[in-house]
Amino acid sequence: MASKETKERPFPERTTARLRLGPLDLAQTEGLHRVWTDPRVVEYLVAEPFDEPARSAEMIEILRGLFAKGEGIRWAVSLLPDGDVIGTCGFHKWAREHRRAEIGYELDSRHWRQGFMGEALTAALEYGFHEMDLNRVEAFVTVGNRLSRGFLAKMGFTLEGTLRHYEWARGRFQDQWLFSLLREEWRPSLPA
Ligand SMILES: CC(C)(COP(=O)(O)OP(=O)(O)OC[C@H]1O[C@@H](n2cnc3c(N)ncnc32)[C@H](O)[C@@H]1OP(=O)(O)O)[C@@H](O)C(=O)NCCC(=O)NCCS
Repeated sequence: MASKETKERPFPERTTARLRLGPLDLAQTEGLHRVWTDPRVVEYLVAEPFDEPARSAEMIEILRGLFAKGEGIRWAVSLLPDGDVIGTCGFHKWAREHRRAEIGYELDSRHWRQGFMGEALTAALEYGFHEMDLNRVEAFVTVGNRLSRGFLAKMGFTLEGTLRHYEWARGRFQDQWLFSLLREEWRPSLPA
């Protein structure tokens, strides 16, 4: 019988010019709680912002489970050479039969507009299209989130339309923009 070690797939870490994409860890709870409660980061998130670090720890466990269960992957994004975690990115809602998944990401606002998430997502998309064998990557963005819209356009995503009253969140129905990127359209233009 195969040992536990041989049955478990190694987590696919990635390094880019300035970043390390590694597994999420409970030791990062404090750093990620700061990101996940940053008012600029959560402004357009569908979920209610977390009120205490224990909720962030629960979220870390849920996101770690994506890779463990073969349902997707979420990386912790840290500054090289060995800096603190500054965000996360990865894939969820992986529909293997359709070769599609949803992408998600968020970054500490102190580091916005320096090309960091572009660098991280380039590595993530390379993994998605070539290791997960995805054909289509989707992104759902709350209408009004212009940063994320501009960011996805920069990454080559196409805005397919507006999903009206798609989510019930924070006491009201919210419209969502649906973006997609197909494998045949993927042109990595940033250092991965
Ligand atoms: C979206 C986000 C991840 C971008 O991270 P980032 O590291 O700043 O992204 P990059 O620097 O790689 O790229 C930023 C690009 O976004 C676009 N952008 C950023 N700010 C913008 C603004 N105010 N108006 C229009 N476009 C903007 C531009 O295309 C910009 O590229 P440029 O700087 O070369 O012009 C970050 O803003 C974030 O965490 N936002 C909050 C969380 C969130 O919305 N997550 C997604 C939920 S769907």
